[in-house]
Amino acid sequence: MDTVLSIKNLTKKYGRITAVNDLSLEIKKGTIFGLLGPNGSGKTTTLGVILDVINHTSGEYQWFGETPSKEHRKKIGAILETPIFYPYLSAIDNLKIVANIKQVSTDNIDNVLQQVDLFERRNDKFKTYSLGMKQRLSIASALLCNPTVMILDEPTNGLDPQGIAEIRNLIIEIAKDGKTIILASHLLDEVQKVCSHFAVLKKGKMIYTGLVEDVSKGEETVEVSAEEENIEELLKNYKGIKSVKPDHNKWIISLHDGHNSKTLNTYLIANDVVVSHLVSQKKSLEKQFLEVLAASDQ
Ligand SMILES: Nc1ncnc2c1ncn2[C@@H]1O[C@H](COP(=O)(O)OP(=O)(O)OP(=O)(O)O)[C@@H](O)[C@H]1O
Ligand SMILES: [Mg+2]
Repeated sequence: MDTVLSIKNLTKKYGRITAVNDLSLEIKKGTIFGLLGPNGSGKTTTLGVILDVINHTSGEYQWFGETPSKEHRKKIGAILETPIFYPYLSAIDNLKIVANIKQVSTDNIDNVLQQVDLFERRNDKFKTYSLGMKQRLSIASALLCNPTVMILDEPTNGLDPQGIAEIRNLIIEIAKDGKTIILASHLLDEVQKVCSHFAVLKKGKMIYTGLVEDVSKGEETVEVSAEEENIEELLKNYKGIKSVKPDHNKWIISLHDGHNSKTLNTYLIANDVVVSHLVSQKKSLEKQFLEVLAASDQ
């Protein structure tokens, strides 16, 4: 079964507020799926519905091609908000309690602590942990039941750059085990660094979905400086050119798909122009995300 989760026309209303609006999406096995959107766009509500902790208004969703059931829920590890651990108990003792509540074996505890790199600190009290360690412990607790799907809501919130990097690497490692990961984030950078697929939500509506890889294939902007007098004309005559704009002593060039700094440079060299400066920039996910958000306002 290739499809892990399919959501069809899902709507959730809180009174007059439509938190999720006719959302449809499909998540395939082994993907790291990013649910990207600004604050209040419906990410947490969507995750709450698919975890069966929030009732939806209309539409449907299926786990593993079947009507959701308790059995499916056991295959899903989730962190919706920072779970409450006992401050005076160690990681081990806290995880024993979680295992008990979830009715899963405690045999896996050492293993998950190693996975999140807390094994060395396993006997220390929870209250002595840094925020990043606390977050890693919550990931460990979600891993206890050896889930095939992990759902993470803003897993790096409040962490410093090192903590963020640790969590991101951990997510990538977890995905290598073949687990499917669904990650909600308002951070574009996070989605770009971690996810394989993503959807952009705005006011509960999905306004874009695609591969993260395709985004970085996006159009390329090239900066060029050259001494030649006829450089502008030459650039304008290049077949891949979309636009040429002067910027101080540089030219900012935007290229059509299939053209890049290399093909442009080859063209310039063929026309006896040697550039003194050539920098290529891919349009970042951030820029595209902002464009998509802005376009959907119109
Ligand atoms: N229990 C609730 N009662 C009423 N409105 C709610 C409730 N929970 C969420 N909402 C509203 O639903 C919308 C979506 O909220 P949600 O928490 O799903 O967004 P989010 O994308 O997770 O945002 P954030 O990035 O801030 O976590 C918001 O307008 C929010 O105010
Ligand atoms: Mg949220």
